[in-house]
Amino acid sequence: MPTTSARLTLDPAFRIAPVEPRLFGSFVEHMGRCVYTGVFEPGHPLADADGFRTDVLELTRELGVTLVRYPGGNFVSNYRWEDGVGPVEDRPARLDLAWRSLEGNAFGLNEFMAWAAKAGVEPMMALNLGTRGVAEALELVEYANYPGGTRLSELRRAHGVDKPHGVRLWCLGNELDGPWQMGHKTAREYGRLAAETARALKRFDPDLSLVACGSSNGGMPTFGAWEAEVLEATYEMVDHISLHAYYDPSDGDVDSFLASAADMDHMIRSIAATADHVGAKLRSRRRIKLSFDEWNVWYQSRFPGESALDWAEHPRLIEDDYDVTDAVVVGSLLITLLRNADRVGIACQAQLANVIAPIRTEPGGPAWRQSVFHPFALTARHARGQVLRVEPECPAIPTARYGEAPAVWATATFDDATGETALFVVNRDRRGPCELEVALPAGLVPVEHLELADPDLSAVNSAAAPDRVAPRPGTGLRLDGRRATLTLPPVSWSIVRFAPQE
Ligand code: AHR
Repeated sequence: MPTTSARLTLDPAFRIAPVEPRLFGSFVEHMGRCVYTGVFEPGHPLADADGFRTDVLELTRELGVTLVRYPGGNFVSNYRWEDGVGPVEDRPARLDLAWRSLEGNAFGLNEFMAWAAKAGVEPMMALNLGTRGVAEALELVEYANYPGGTRLSELRRAHGVDKPHGVRLWCLGNELDGPWQMGHKTAREYGRLAAETARALKRFDPDLSLVACGSSNGGMPTFGAWEAEVLEATYEMVDHISLHAYYDPSDGDVDSFLASAADMDHMIRSIAATADHVGAKLRSRRRIKLSFDEWNVWYQSRFPGESALDWAEHPRLIEDDYDVTDAVVVGSLLITLLRNADRVGIACQAQLANVIAPIRTEPGGPAWRQSVFHPFALTARHARGQVLRVEPECPAIPTARYGEAPAVWATATFDDATGETALFVVNRDRRGPCELEVALPAGLVPVEHLELADPDLSAVNSAAAPDRVAPRPGTGLRLDGRRATLTLPPVSWSIVRFAPQE
């Protein structure tokens, strides 16, 4: 195996932006088994009094999730929030047209808020701007956030929730540029509706933070143009524009798949530039942030499509098994989000449980960590303080989809409070290991070195072998004065933590 070499410098003087805790968000959609038999399963041996699976709650906390988007996704565009509140026995069964599923509504807004409090995460609520509009959005926000004395706030109190939920973050719909979306709209139609809704919500509470829908993915024919038109209509009233991207390993072009972060990086730069262009045209001083509120690896070509699904209650939908390569790609996507911390204010890995998820469960059975759980958990735990600008010098890998991609992709954070620096780095090269030289500030020594790599790149975790793929201590890290050297295995994700010498 040929060994390549690479170099990078860690310098706390070169800062991009503070690490935004909201970058470690996740997503709970009423889809497949994310809610039912995922986070919520009354009757499970480990369910608490509210029916929440405590094993999943513990894994959610271990994952380090800070924020969770709810209740969809495509689901929200045909959802009536009123169906999910009040006495459970009175809640109607409905057809969820997004996933051709039967929705029993045993889990709704108040259950989600109780779950979020136990998980210690900030809620991010999505509004239905597909089949519904301004009035229903306002009613939901009044029900959720107004203290009392009005019909809807008193209804919430009658439902046993005395204090307002105080939800600050609201998504103005979901993927409304997509023809598959219930209530799909043109940019002009959506921009107008989003502006009217935002105006009303900000009148209710100017401190609400609003996310306008951007494109459903970077391949949409209106990518860029959609964001420009929507932001022209909403610029002074919204705080974020959303981005969504899923990376599909199925076509067998492994080098391109390993370079997926190049696409995410390009999307972020393109939409930041689009937002700034609109701001300049409008002579505005505001700076719109990006909400990358759906991202992940998804074996999308294995999914037969919504129309092919038979009506069923919480069916097994897109429960992808993630392997070592997928975990390395997820690690590289997290690196990309951190590298863009000056523009990306929110990010949500989609989804949390079972549906393209880091956490898997069996009904009545165990919960376990998928391979992709690990880079997320370690990044969320150790990325603290300021993101540093890190530019590796390394060989390039030719890819069919993205041209030349750097073999080594990295970021680092520096914590002023502790003096610790954490380096997050992937080697995308399948052909061999990479000898990485790290130039360090004076007085730092390595305190931890973990890597996720495996001779079998297709290895996965399962209920029977839940720890088959996990980070292991890295070997061969050497320190010579202010220079650390380590070997990055082929197709690997690594973290090295450095701390001031005692
Ligand atoms: O996360 C799965 C689906 O992907 C979401 O419902 C939708 O918003 C996106 O297309």
